[in-house]
Amino acid sequence: MKRFNVAGKCVWLTGASSGIGEALVFELAARGARVAITARRGDVLESIKAKIPSAHGEVRCFPGDVCELTQMKEIVARVEREMGPIDLAIPNAGTHVFTVPEAFNSDEYLSLMQLNFGGMLRCIEAVLPGMLGRGRGYLAPVASLAGYRGLPRAAAYGASKAAMIHFLESIRFHLKTKGITISIVNPGFVKTPLTDKNDFRMPFLVDAQQAAKIICDGIARRKREIAFPFPFNWVLKIARMLPDPVYEKIVDRCW
Ligand SMILES: NC(=O)c1ccc[n+]([C@@H]2O[C@H](COP(=O)([O-])OP(=O)(O)OC[C@H]3O[C@@H](n4cnc5c(N)ncnc54)[C@H](OP(=O)(O)O)[C@@H]3O)[C@@H](O)[C@H]2O)c1
Repeated sequence: MKRFNVAGKCVWLTGASSGIGEALVFELAARGARVAITARRGDVLESIKAKIPSAHGEVRCFPGDVCELTQMKEIVARVEREMGPIDLAIPNAGTHVFTVPEAFNSDEYLSLMQLNFGGMLRCIEAVLPGMLGRGRGYLAPVASLAGYRGLPRAAAYGASKAAMIHFLESIRFHLKTKGITISIVNPGFVKTPLTDKNDFRMPFLVDAQQAAKIICDGIARRKREIAFPFPFNWVLKIARMLPDPVYEKIVDRCW
């Protein structure tokens, strides 16, 4: 399949004010993409935009909340009016909450689902009609290796990411016949304000700049799944195939 060169392309990225998203803004702009960036904190987006070297691709800010469908539709309409058709959308906004059974809180878990899974759905609903109309487009939502299989204290987070992975694998059957590519981005641990909250040792931790480079390289190759870092991605892939008692014993010992 033909490579996807982001140079000159219009890319819409959410969750761009911090962590992986912020690093992606710099990486995409350095590769010559024209990047429309979204997150709730517009002032932070503006300060990131101000740091982009002038020789790199253009960056424009479109603040908004990914949980609000009307806002996402308005943003897509504005981006396409001001920057042209969106070639690539990267729904990346998301967060994490720990799941502790003694403090079980279904409202908290549902609002996490609303952001991680729902936010992706809102963005896809906003951008997809234009892509379908043009008969081409590219979606690269950021899920997580945590969506592969249950992990301690990650019940709500893992469920939201598993929902994303399952949903994207399913719609790919239909969308590939309409000229739309889907890459499912599944990072392991990446050093960001999100993981700075973690109180445990994070194996194979990579920095956000490395993550952004791997994601952009994977998009260039139109990889179905951009899972990293190696070998952590393979360890968790193999773990998916283990019988439950073996998997539980290993996780109990290592996590
Ligand atoms: N870090 C990791 O190890 C890791 C591993 C696997 C997957 N991921 C996934 O990668 C994505 C980015 O994570 P990160 O580590 O970079 O986290 P982060 O540094 O906390 O950044 C999260 C981003 O999401 C935005 N956001 C949150 N709620 C939003 C909303 N309602 N509307 C619009 N934007 C919103 C935040 O901006 P505002 O606050 O300005 O809105 C921020 O830009 C997430 O989906 C996360 O689950 C991360």
